[in-house]
Amino acid sequence: MTRDSQRDWASFDPENIPTKADASELETFLVEVGHKGSLLDLGCGNGILSRALAARGYRVTAVDINEGAIASARESVVSFHVRDILSTNGLRLAAAPFSIVVCQLVISVVGGVAQRARLLQNAHDSLEPGGWLYLSASGISDDINSGYARLYDEDFAETGEHGTYFSRDSDGEILYSTHHFTEPELRALLEAAGFEVSRVTVNKEASSRRPDQAARFLYAVARKPERILRKNVTQRRKDAKKKKRPPPQNLWVALGSKLG
Ligand SMILES: C[S@@+](CC[C@H](N)C(=O)[O-])C[C@H]1O[C@@H](n2cnc3c(N)ncnc32)[C@H](O)[C@@H]1O
Repeated sequence: MTRDSQRDWASFDPENIPTKADASELETFLVEVGHKGSLLDLGCGNGILSRALAARGYRVTAVDINEGAIASARESVVSFHVRDILSTNGLRLAAAPFSIVVCQLVISVVGGVAQRARLLQNAHDSLEPGGWLYLSASGISDDINSGYARLYDEDFAETGEHGTYFSRDSDGEILYSTHHFTEPELRALLEAAGFEVSRVTVNKEASSRRPDQAARFLYAVARKPERILRKNVTQRRKDAKKKKRPPPQNLWVALGSKLG
């Protein structure tokens, strides 16, 4: 992967950050979760989604690497912050942990395999035990759109990964790299990050940047297990007990000293 996705997105024209108007899968997810808790919008772009969620009663924190987008979004009830969601030092958000993390159309554009895993790790770390993740991603589409089949092939020499291509502007300039996931691939990534996957829905829709073209989208709903905390507490108790216990003596030495 030759692109520097962090630089691509930090310098992207904030006015033209891609988004998605149809939020019906997100709507279904919110109804399922039921409660209106604290919510983190990871890679919020211009904050369209963040503001809509805040207007519906969620306590929303939203982060993005693009300073221009965050600056324009700031005048709002949402708590907007410039953050790199791939940070290895955590996201340093006062409102954490959150009961819900929303990550719309971000995992496809954050970079390669390591960056996707890091994003999911930060999403996991930002959630409280039992907290919910809603994640949407672009899905593999070469079988329904020959244009994508061509792009995957043409860019393979540089991306080195099937299903990845470079999104370009109308002059053919590369803007950023995009990965299209298979369902098992996205599931495996979520599970590797410690999530319990409730479902991954695969829909055939219109491409977000090319509305006249067919593209698949994946919608994942996953949960940070409750038991992580319990497991840690039990382990910590066991470790503490071990520390208190005197070191085990050799049985024969112990018996010998007793027998005189
Ligand atoms: C396709 S846009 C989606 C924006 C928003 N989620 C929406 O659906 O309206 C991807 C967003 O991810 C952000 N992004 C990409 N890499 C990032 C990173 N490393 N840290 C924070 N944000 C990042 C981009 O700046 C951009 O706003």
